[in-house]
Amino acid sequence: MAPRSLLAVLAVAALAFLHAASAKSSWLDRRFTTDGTVRTGYDDSGQQVVMLRLDQHSGAAGFNSKEQYLYGEFSVEMKLIRGNSAGTVSCFYLSSGDGDGRDEIDMEFMGNSSGQPVVLNTNVWASGDGKKEHQFDLWFDPSADYHTYTIIWNPTNILFKVDDLFIRSFKRYADLPYPSSRPMTLHATLWDGSYWATEKGRVGIDWSDAPFVVSYRSYYASACVSGGACRAAGSGGWMNRQLDSAEWGTVRWAERNFMRYNYCQDGWRFPQGLPAECARH
Ligand SMILES: *[C@@H]1O[C@H](CO)[C@@H](O)[C@H](O)[C@H]1NC(C)=O
Repeated sequence: MAPRSLLAVLAVAALAFLHAASAKSSWLDRRFTTDGTVRTGYDDSGQQVVMLRLDQHSGAAGFNSKEQYLYGEFSVEMKLIRGNSAGTVSCFYLSSGDGDGRDEIDMEFMGNSSGQPVVLNTNVWASGDGKKEHQFDLWFDPSADYHTYTIIWNPTNILFKVDDLFIRSFKRYADLPYPSSRPMTLHATLWDGSYWATEKGRVGIDWSDAPFVVSYRSYYASACVSGGACRAAGSGGWMNRQLDSAEWGTVRWAERNFMRYNYCQDGWRFPQGLPAECARH
C-alpha cells in the first residue's frame, strides 16, 4: 500500500475509534448535570473519566442525575484521593432531597491521613431517620486503582456491593420505615467533611495537600425512572434481587474482618433501645 493511502486508512480508523469511544462513554452529559469543579477526560481504553476536584475555594463538586428513580441498580468505578485525604468525603448516593422526611441510600468514603484506612460508610435514610450506618475498612487501597461500587434498591431490600462482593443487605420490614415512595436523584459528590469524617472530626483537611481529586468512570444504571419506564428491569434482574447463602457469606466475612461501626451495636447512641430492625433477622 502506498504511504498516502495507508495514512488515509489510519486516519479513518482513528476517527471511527474516537467516535465509538465518545458515543459509548459520554454518560456524564447524557445522564447528569454538574456543579462545582468537574473535569472530564478519557483513560487509555477510551472510557470517559469524570474528576471531581476540591480545594479551599472551590466548594463542593459533584454531578447529579437529570432523572429521578424509584428502585434500580446503580454502579460506578471510583478511584479515590491519593495521599492525605483526611477530612474529605467522596460519595456515590441516592437522595430524595433535603426535606425533613427524606429518603437516602449512601456510599460515602471518609478520607484519612496518608497510609491510614479510608472508611466506607453505608447508610439508609427512611422518612428522615438515617442512623443506620455500617462502616467498613476496605481490604485494598481504594486510591491505587478503580474499584466498582454498587447499590441495588428494590422493594425487598437494599444491597451494597464492593467489586464482586456484597457487604450489606438492608431488609424491608412491613411495619418499619423503608425507602419505597419518594423518587431519588443519584449524586456523586466530593466535599469538606472535616467536622465529622475523620476520627470523628479530630483530623481536619490540610489544604496544603489540595487540590483533592476523585475519579469516576463506567457509570451504569438500570432503574425505574420516576413517572416513566423501568429500564431493563427484566426477569431475574435487580428488581427481585436478594442475597443467596454464598453472598450472605461475603457479608459475614466483611462484617467479621472489616466492620468498624455498626449502629445496631451502639447502645450509647440509642439509650431508649436499639432500632427495631436490629432485633430481627
Ligand atoms: C483513619 O485512621 C485512624 C487510625 O488508623 C482510624 O482510627 C480511623 O478509623 C480511620 N478512618 C477515619 C475515617 O477516621
